[in-house]
Parts: sequence; structure tokens; C-alpha cells
Amino acid sequence: FAEKPTVGERKQVENVAHRGAAGYAPENTIAAYDLAVDMKADYIEIDVQRSKDGELVSIHDTTVDRTTDGTGKVGDLTLEQLKSLDAGSWKGEQFTGEQIPTFEEILDRYHGKVGILIELKAPEYYPGIEEQVAELIKERNLDKPQNKKIIIQSFNFESMKKMNQLLPQVQIGVLTSNRAHTTMDALKEFSTYADWFNPSYGIVTKELVNQVHANDMKIGSWTVRSQEAADFLFEMKVDAIISDYPDYVDPRN
Ligand code: G3P
Ligand code: CA
Repeated sequence: FAEKPTVGERKQVENVAHRGAAGYAPENTIAAYDLAVDMKADYIEIDVQRSKDGELVSIHDTTVDRTTDGTGKVGDLTLEQLKSLDAGSWKGEQFTGEQIPTFEEILDRYHGKVGILIELKAPEYYPGIEEQVAELIKERNLDKPQNKKIIIQSFNFESMKKMNQLLPQVQIGVLTSNRAHTTMDALKEFSTYADWFNPSYGIVTKELVNQVHANDMKIGSWTVRSQEAADFLFEMKVDAIISDYPDYVDPRN
């Protein structure tokens, strides 16, 4: 096992609450994001998709089946239909009535209060979603360099290239669990538009961390669901740990 990192070492790392504090509350709901804020996370991570009638909402899967009492594809349901679903009770009776939040609700409730790591989930299903996200961020002046605590990431690299063109001052991240994306050439290419290289922790090594840093990017890794995994990433000296359990990453613990 990794040695327990010092408080100083742990303080350097951004504590990102994956889908909110998803270990304790229903992922991608206000309950989960509020809990992450209470737990002193530095960022909440949110998954963004689009309803049939064009509203941006936060939900992870491309169907509502796993995390709500409804069925069907997110993109086949209107905002009204999505809002009528119970997105909480699957995680526990006390969360009954939690709704799928809109992207705008999240921006308005949390910007300035906690960092927001925005994942465009399957943007290839939602043509033009990049422009929509850019517009909502600009409307709120969150695209200015002083808003360092907004990051936009995706597994879809073309989408992130586009996002970087639309919002050149906002930090961009690329997500992968593919070792083929960890070569020096691949990292160099990512660094032409991305500020963060965010791999699953199974492919993280010290060498990778050094190479990401050598390409002037930061590295955030996911998804931590055990203290051992968090301690491994502390030892690797990543810049951010994306976890369902913010307490595993909290320097005070
Ligand atoms: O933030 C990284 C992580 O969220 C990527 O995977 O499937 O949980 O969206 P996923
Ligand atoms: Ca995600």
C-alpha cells in the first residue's frame, strides 16, 4: 500500500466530487452537489446532455432507466417529461423527489461557490451542444480568465477542440482510459487545445504524470471509490482526484 501522504501534499490536489458526492447521494442531483459543497469539495463534476426540446440537463447515462423511475433516451424526452421523473429514490427513500437538474440551474446555483467540471457526455448525439454550452457560459461571464474554476471535458476530442475555439479562455480537458492516448505524440497533440489530461486511474503512472506536466497540462484522474485508490493518486502526484467520496480526498482526513 502507498504511504499516507502528508496534509501538505494532499492540499495541493483538487478534490473533485464525481457527479456530486455520488457515493452518498443520487448522482447528478442538487442533493449530491450540495453535499459535495458541504463536504468542502473544490469542484463538482457534472454530466451534460440535451432534452428533446433542446434544454441542457445533467444526467450520466444516455437513457433515464438506471437513475430515475422512467424509461427512454434522454434526447427523446422533453424537459417537462425529464423534470417529472424521480431521480433520487433509487439511491434511498430519503432522496425521493430529487429531479434531474438543468445545466443553467447548476451554473446559477454553484458558480462562484464551488468549481464546476463540466463533462459533455456523448456530444456526438447532440449536434451544436458546444455552441449552446458556450452561450450559457458567456451569458454569465464565466468565460473570463478569472473564472479558473470552470473546466469543460469530454471523451470526444473533436468536441473539445471545438469548445476550445468557442471559449479560448476556458480550461479544456480530455478524458480517456486508453493507453494509446498516453504517448508523447498523443499528449503533445492534446496540449494544442487542452489544459487537462484526465485518465482513469488504472493507466496512471509517475512517468505519465511527468509527461503530462512536460506538455504543460494538468492531470486529473477518476473514479476513486476507495481510500487506497485515492492514496495511490496522491502518491502519483496528480493535480486532481475525481471521486464519489470527497472525504477520501479531503486533506483534513
Ligand atoms: O470525470 C471523469 C469521469 O466522470 C468520466 O467517466 O463515465 O463517470 O462520466 P464517467
Ligand atoms: Ca462524468
